[in-house]
Amino acid sequence: MSSSNSVRDNLPWVEKYRPSNLDEVYGQQEVVQTIRKFAQDGRIPHLLFYGPPGTGKTSTIIALAREIYGKNYRNMVLELNASDDRGIDVVRNQIKTFASTRQIFSTGFKLIILDEADAMTNVAQNALRRVIEKYTKNTRFCILANYSHKMNPALLSRCTRFRFSPLTETAIEERVEDVIKEEHLKVSDEAKKGLLKLSEGDMRKALNVLQACAASVDKGEEITLDMIYECVGAPRPQSIELVLDSIMRHDWTDAYATMNKIKSTEGLALIDLIAGFVDVLSQYELKDRTRMDILEGLGDIEYGISKGGSDKIQSTAVIGVIKRALENEA
Ligand SMILES: Nc1ncnc2c1ncn2[C@@H]1O[C@H](COP(=O)(O)OP(=O)(O)O)[C@@H](O)[C@H]1O
Ligand SMILES: [Mg+2]
Repeated sequence: MSSSNSVRDNLPWVEKYRPSNLDEVYGQQEVVQTIRKFAQDGRIPHLLFYGPPGTGKTSTIIALAREIYGKNYRNMVLELNASDDRGIDVVRNQIKTFASTRQIFSTGFKLIILDEADAMTNVAQNALRRVIEKYTKNTRFCILANYSHKMNPALLSRCTRFRFSPLTETAIEERVEDVIKEEHLKVSDEAKKGLLKLSEGDMRKALNVLQACAASVDKGEEITLDMIYECVGAPRPQSIELVLDSIMRHDWTDAYATMNKIKSTEGLALIDLIAGFVDVLSQYELKDRTRMDILEGLGDIEYGISKGGSDKIQSTAVIGVIKRALENEA
């Protein structure tokens, strides 16, 4: 095996399977079509890609840049991460140096990719807006962000905006199937379904979970649904139902014991259990009032945990909230 192959083999799968061209960006057809058209017409505006993590924002702009620049990529593209703790001055200087260096061999716009731009302060965003204006003659900016509402409106108005939606299970499945084949994995059908669901539209999560599971099995051993839950750190629905059942039918002491047992055997924190309850309860038939009481109560407890509340007290509070609401229901 050549060394470049083994380097590739040791990469995290999110890097190894980063789309190498726009055709490998799944589930974002509209965005891909439109920006491809821009590129073909040679009229690329400043771009803003926004949407939740793991939906292909970074991958898409890099793939586009590869299509436009090919071998010239390194000379023509500057990738900056705005969340690096370096302030707007550093960004401004890097942009200035990059944008004002003359190209001998190539013509056309240079491209500056500014990743995680919503991490920038408003002051920095204002400064960035002026930088963009200053260098518009020979550069194009592509700004990437999770939330467009964290972006300065004056900056937004200078960009053509594209929203990256959470990926559909079908889009994630396409990529996951590629990886399963390439890595010679055995994955049960229910494990595959579980993986797609638990990824919640985030391809990065899907690939990371799959890689963690693959690392925990022997060659040729099948990846099961339980392993998927374990790698995600999410409780299995059966476990949540077990705890709920115990809360409904047993007294406090028993319910508390059941809850602790599930927590320790599955390696879960209370906060994971709470997320599990919310998920499972959405499939139960309950009066609106009961559902509201439970959700409100769990919300308060979640907040309590985030403020450093004691695990034992918060655990018993969970039991209390659910018990009381269900008793009122009856
Ligand atoms: N739409 C997609 N099609 C194929 N792979 C994707 C897609 N979105 C994300 N990925 C995979 O997930 C990883 C993270 O994607 P990235 O483009 O960095 O997401 P974002 O910038 O939206 O957080 C990539 O390396 C890639 O392997
Ligand atoms: Mg990204």
